[in-house]
Amino acid sequence: MTDWDERFRSGQYPQDTEPSEMLRRHVDALPEGRALDVAAGTGRNAVFLADRGYRVDALDGSRAGLEITRDRAAERDAGGRLELVQTDLPSHAFPTETYDLVTISFYRAVDRLSDIKESLRDGGVLYVEHHLRSSDPVESGPSGDRYRFAANELLRSVLDLTVLEYAERIETRSDGRHAATARVVARKTSGPRQSYPAVGKPGTGPDDG
Ligand SMILES: C[S@@+](CC[C@H](N)C(=O)[O-])C[C@H]1O[C@@H](n2cnc3c(N)ncnc32)[C@H](O)[C@@H]1O
Repeated sequence: MTDWDERFRSGQYPQDTEPSEMLRRHVDALPEGRALDVAAGTGRNAVFLADRGYRVDALDGSRAGLEITRDRAAERDAGGRLELVQTDLPSHAFPTETYDLVTISFYRAVDRLSDIKESLRDGGVLYVEHHLRSSDPVESGPSGDRYRFAANELLRSVLDLTVLEYAERIETRSDGRHAATARVVARKTSGPRQSYPAVGKPGTGPDDG
């Protein structure tokens, strides 16, 4: 049993059912097809995407998290579009040029990011969000800086993609805690002329991590 199994089974980790706010704002403009959710947790983004018609591979090391994800997908009749994979992400073998959308929410996958980008098809989109180092006091996320992004670190890591939206900010969660986060939506395309579909305006969604 992993620490995350314990956190999910005990309810210690907030089991948010809402998908990530920036992902939700962009989803109508994203390519349809196959999606990968890296470190799916209890499946808020994986189930959201399966519910929208994506065929989703949901990866996580926690069996408890995957079981909750499976049950949530079944409640929405989306279980048939969800493949649950228990895996250790540092050594996971990502397929190449397979996915139209990859999401990574509150898992620091920096060492695997080049393989994850390789797993995108041409035109595929990467969504990443994670905690950020901050000089302002924040109560949410890892206690030390080691597992947080430095300023602009996430942005620099996707400069080989077309960045559609990037944001670093302090936000107030629904439970009143503050979080410092970095988020990006970026497309695997290159060249001086790109398309930039309209998306909704930023809000303060109930993201957690
Ligand atoms: C903060 S939670 C985020 C869950 C989800 N993405 C969300 O935003 O709600 C981090 C997740 O990473 C998973 N995780 C941590 N280390 C892992 C590893 N080495 N291999 C696979 N999963 C891992 C945990 O099991 C947990 O589900």
